Amino acid sequence: MEVIAAVRNRRAVKSFDPHHKMSDETRQALLEAAVLAPSAYNIQHWRIVDVRDPAQRAAIREVAWGQTQVTDASALYVLCADLNAWQEEPTRYWATSPQPVQDFVLPKLDEYYRGKPEVARDEAMRTLGIFGMTLMLVAQDLGYDSCPMDGFDFDAVAKIIRLPADFAIGYMVAVGKGTGNAWPRNREAVEKLVYIDYF
Ligand SMILES: Cc1cc2nc3c(=O)[nH]c(=O)nc-3n(C[C@H](O)[C@H](O)[C@H](O)COP(=O)(O)O)c2cc1C
Repeated sequence: MEVIAAVRNRRAVKSFDPHHKMSDETRQALLEAAVLAPSAYNIQHWRIVDVRDPAQRAAIREVAWGQTQVTDASALYVLCADLNAWQEEPTRYWATSPQPVQDFVLPKLDEYYRGKPEVARDEAMRTLGIFGMTLMLVAQDLGYDSCPMDGFDFDAVAKIIRLPADFAIGYMVAVGKGTGNAWPRNREAVEKLVYIDYF
């Protein structure tokens, strides 16, 4: 599928076929493509909880306004960020780059994040946004539908998935075979949203 077709066809799907099983190969292909998403300083902050246990799904649905996507999608990913990933052996993120690049980037990376938890969190969330979008477009290409979700109690989900300290939940993405028709699309005209040079 062309990227633009995937972009056009993607919708935030409200109901999924609860009987459809996604193969292990597809799951692997989906995530292997999604991790090609860009990340700030190539830190790859994303940590993904792939919620498979139906009991876990049911528990999350209870704190997610009862949204059926949580239990019915073939896959439910809780996208989390490791807020300390910037200082966990950062040399590995740049190991394949030429030495002069490493010598330049690694001190910059440290300077950028050290002592600035807000910056670390913002960067992690930006990165999770791009990761999730990549995941949804790849899902589309693989013949699946998706729904990004933040309609849930973050603290309760953190408890259910045993989120470690210094990690943050960004949002969830449900992936599966959509059923039923999406609501009509609704977007502001580009002309109302774009400013040339200044606000
Ligand atoms: C961060 C985020 C959180 C969202 N949370 C939910 C959600 O909890 N449940 C839901 O059904 N849709 C959710 N949506 C989907 C939006 O409502 C949807 O993308 C928007 O209405 C536009 O529809 P479309 O994606 O089909 O074009 C979320 C979207 C984003 C980006």
